[in-house]
Amino acid sequence: MKKEKTYFVCQECGYSSPKWLGRCPSCGAWNSMVEEKEIRSLSGRVEIKTTPKPLHLWEEQRAIRLSTGFESLDYALGGGIVKGQVLLLAGEPGIGKSTLLLQVCEGFSKLYGPVLYVSGEESPSQIALRAKRLRVGSESLLVFPETNLEEILQTLREERPSLLVVDSVQTLYSSSLESSPGSVAQVRECTFRLSEVCKELNIPVFLVGQVNKEGVLAGPKVLEHIVDTVLYFEGERFNFYRVVKAVKNRFGESGNMAVFRMTGQGLEEVQEPSAFFLQERVGSPGSVVFPHTEGSKPVLLEVQALTIQALYTTPQRKTQGFDPNRLALILAVLEKEAKVFTRDRDVFVNVVGGVSVEEPAVDLAVALSVVSSVKDKPVGDLLIFGELGLSGEVRSVHFAQERLREGLRFGFKRAIVPEGCRVELQGLEVLGVRHIREAIEFII
Ligand code: TYD
Ligand code: MG
Repeated sequence: MKKEKTYFVCQECGYSSPKWLGRCPSCGAWNSMVEEKEIRSLSGRVEIKTTPKPLHLWEEQRAIRLSTGFESLDYALGGGIVKGQVLLLAGEPGIGKSTLLLQVCEGFSKLYGPVLYVSGEESPSQIALRAKRLRVGSESLLVFPETNLEEILQTLREERPSLLVVDSVQTLYSSSLESSPGSVAQVRECTFRLSEVCKELNIPVFLVGQVNKEGVLAGPKVLEHIVDTVLYFEGERFNFYRVVKAVKNRFGESGNMAVFRMTGQGLEEVQEPSAFFLQERVGSPGSVVFPHTEGSKPVLLEVQALTIQALYTTPQRKTQGFDPNRLALILAVLEKEAKVFTRDRDVFVNVVGGVSVEEPAVDLAVALSVVSSVKDKPVGDLLIFGELGLSGEVRSVHFAQERLREGLRFGFKRAIVPEGCRVELQGLEVLGVRHIREAIEFII
């Protein structure tokens, strides 16, 4: 028999080392190494025998799409769920993951037959209470309070549901490992084995992943490469907007999002997100409209900046829905290249609606919203997008046509875009700019 090896695994990033270390050399976290037994037992794993075939024969097994019951979520998933698909729904506690999935289960069970909802976080009576509130109660929605992986796998083989939901993956444990539930080893092993069996049985599965404050998946990023699809559930907890973004998708385009509203009876789909996000916009100085997209379906968002005389020697830079380091860089470019000074001012930037924007196309919108606030001059109904380079140059971005069309659909008449993205569109005056200075000239 082989000697059992132990090793130390960082609970933040999954880095492993044969010795204990006070600080993880990979992610820099302190005191994050936990001793774990080596994962060996490959026995009991399913081996699916496959043979090489030409590509067109593979393609014939075209995926049939199953509906989640929410049109925009289906769209964000590339047309719905595929049998055997492993989806991770990640988000902070209290954002609405269990609510959304219970609603998906209800619709699914009516259309495709029994659904298995495995809950390790809430008791069946708590789920029943929520179900009552959501007015769901399909006979074929089976609730199973279990956290042992082997039990779940067995039940899965017996019941053969049309969909499996595991809420949450951090509560699962496999008897073959000694580490505690929620540890990297457990979360990784459970996800891996669940996805293997779901693929074998052709059952799609939603795994709920709790995310902590820093925005990393607790037990964490290590899951993203195992699953087929990663959905991020975002929004401000005290606000009613919720956004589900497909950040990774092996079965369709990624980057698209579905927008929901949290009501007293669960989540309601927002059909026209652009209208929804702009409905309360007043257009005061510092407010600009940015057509956001990481997929091919843009959504108009309001970006707001507020700048005021700083009280302290180190002025504040605070952002919501936007990277504060990126803001610091934009402020530096504005100062150096356009002589817009903010070093004695506090600067606050907010993307309205709880959406967080990572794509660089938002740079120009942020820069011009800051300028508009500093000069105390509203920009009016103007679409703005473009990436900002360190010398103040405005760079081209993806999906320019789609972004402009979305603006046109909502009655926008003018747009400031990178010169390389300028297109002729009837009814829209598209102003191409090469440098931040040119863009500023248009608004002041
Ligand atoms: P929940 O789905 O439990 O969040 P998660 O599973 O991500 O932790 O949702 C929790 C919040 O949603 C809770 O604060 C109450 C609110 N909520 C509503 O506003 N309306 C509803 O119909 C439901 C079921 C929940
Ligand atoms: Mg929950």
